[in-house]
Amino acid sequence: MKGIVLAGGSGTRLHPITQAVSKQLLPVYDKPMIYYPLSVLMLAGIREMLVISTPTDLPNFRRLLGDGSQLGLDLRYAEQPSPNGLAEAFVIGADFIGDDDVALILGDNIFYGRGFSGTLKEQVDTLDGCVLFGYSVKDPQRYGVGEVDERGKLLSIEEKPARPRSNQAITGLYLYDNEVVDIARNLTPSARGELEITDVNLTYLRRDRARLVQLSRGFAWLDTGTHDSLLEAAQFVQVLEHRTGVRIACLEEVALRMGFISPDECFQLGAKLTKSGYGEYVMDVARQAGAS
Ligand code: DAU
Repeated sequence: MKGIVLAGGSGTRLHPITQAVSKQLLPVYDKPMIYYPLSVLMLAGIREMLVISTPTDLPNFRRLLGDGSQLGLDLRYAEQPSPNGLAEAFVIGADFIGDDDVALILGDNIFYGRGFSGTLKEQVDTLDGCVLFGYSVKDPQRYGVGEVDERGKLLSIEEKPARPRSNQAITGLYLYDNEVVDIARNLTPSARGELEITDVNLTYLRRDRARLVQLSRGFAWLDTGTHDSLLEAAQFVQVLEHRTGVRIACLEEVALRMGFISPDECFQLGAKLTKSGYGEYVMDVARQAGAS
């Protein structure tokens, strides 16, 4: 399976902060926002990834992440000149996807919870059609919303409905088989002129090939869409990291644990960042794993 991180858009809801910096490069406590979705794809076992962003912002992502080889990844980049919708990712990424299945994650979505990597791997391994991840929220009208019956079967999907049929928001992580490329290519733009991800999901639903996996109550899916939610996400990460001494979405650590890099390689990455506590942490993790 290939992975796409969509990190474009104009970030207007966070202006003036995002007037000169891409939203997905803003810090969420101790690391850039894009680290969080990248770590999710890595935990799913995905190593070939495409980062899509605006022509202006793309060079900054490249500066931050390079070709990914330092993390045992193969990272490519592609431009989305204007925000024509989430589903445009599959049109832009068609050559990159080739004949593979693909996971799409939005560059501003943060997931945290026990057992998440296991759930992800299981869904990737058994993928048939499309898998969406639902999360109970108190303001579902702000999101794509999924309705399921008592047995968990997906009945309907609506984008930002005025009167939501459930409180299950559809999060910004989507798994698709290869048909998604054709589906996206044949979409009609919505009233707001976008290729809507919800229309892709509805196509799968009509074919009876869409599943909604509900993320449980103990799980955290964090929003970064407003000044308050961005600050709260940072505070959430800070509290967890202080309390446990373990960092969330530390890409070097994830790469090590996934076996993408060796303890020595991990140590070298930490050594380049020694002036920050982050670098010290990476070196510690590498030492514990046997770096010499
Ligand atoms: O976060 C989950 C939600 O994401 C889903 O529940 C909705 O169904 C889905 O439509 C989407 O809703 P948003 O209101 O968050 O979409 P937004 O247009 O804000 O785009 C989400 C992110 O993707 C944002 O950081 C900007 C980026 N983006 C957006 C568009 C439209 C792009 O990179 N390219 C685009 O063309």
